[in-house]
Amino acid sequence: MKNLFVCLFFLVGITGSCLAQNTKRGTSYDRFSPAAVWTDTKGEVINAHGGGVIFDNKKYYWFGEKRGRGASEGVNVYSSSDLYNWTFEGLALAPDDADPESDIARGCIMERPKVLYNEKTKKYVMWFHLELKGQGYKAARAGVAISDNATGPYKFVSSFRPNGNMSRDMTLFKDDNGDAYHIYSSRENYDLRVSKLSDDYLTPTAQDTLLFSKHREAPAIFRYKDKYYLVTSGCTGWAPNKASVHVSKSLFGPWQYIGDPMIGPQSELTFGGQSTYVLPIQGKKDQFIFMADKWNPKDLKDSRYIWLPVSIKDDAVQIKWQDQWDLKSLNNKRRSPGS
Ligand code: DGJ
Repeated sequence: MKNLFVCLFFLVGITGSCLAQNTKRGTSYDRFSPAAVWTDTKGEVINAHGGGVIFDNKKYYWFGEKRGRGASEGVNVYSSSDLYNWTFEGLALAPDDADPESDIARGCIMERPKVLYNEKTKKYVMWFHLELKGQGYKAARAGVAISDNATGPYKFVSSFRPNGNMSRDMTLFKDDNGDAYHIYSSRENYDLRVSKLSDDYLTPTAQDTLLFSKHREAPAIFRYKDKYYLVTSGCTGWAPNKASVHVSKSLFGPWQYIGDPMIGPQSELTFGGQSTYVLPIQGKKDQFIFMADKWNPKDLKDSRYIWLPVSIKDDAVQIKWQDQWDLKSLNNKRRSPGS
């Protein structure tokens, strides 16, 4: 009897201390749970919306919009070595509190930040959709910031309309040869355009082309073998809509529509989310994660993340809903012959 009490005492103690550790340090994850609350290693809800991820020096870095109650509060950055557990690294780019005339004066809107590392300049370059303070979504600019370190702090460089074109939702893409591209919604979102970036990635070049005029936004692009795949959403504000994929042999087109890749409940509404990025998984050849935001317009910081595996075969792209999944399960996913 005495032994039973001792055992019980230890069990209660161990369970209690585990729970306490969980609360204090945050949950340790070994799988993705799309659209569920996702906390960082300190137990805070991850605040990185409309984001993008880079892999650098053996770590992933996730950049995304820091949101307060609706307000834009800059760009947050998190790091991870396993893609499940993310450590908050701080505010990578802060709104400018010192200069009310700055393009990024507090009150501006910064959305969809994406970062690339430039091998030539050894700098990390961030691009984002910038709207000037007090102007709603009228300014339609791209903003650029730069840092010596992946986690920042990033220094604002400039903002502009690329080659004079309106620029709202956007992403960046770095090709295998180091050339980089800015893909952006233009002309009140009716056009989707691409511009090749300068060698230092700080400005667009004049090589700037219309991809298609189909009123699309939220571009997320990846390369699989010798083709480029571009996921986009329709333009319905924060409300979800139907996704589409286009494929092309060249970034400058022609782009061919190949359908809605989503499969599962609410697939016709991108599972309630909107595309933001497609992340190539390190060490898993030709494996990608589709990243989307499930927006909560009443409280944007409370928007959820939908991360799902991408499957590609014979040009057909499929993104299937799963309540939970892990990277180990990808080994059994379908692959093209030879991959
Ligand atoms: C949809 C865009 O994709 C978001 O990034 C944001 O700009 C909202 N529109 C604003 O309504």
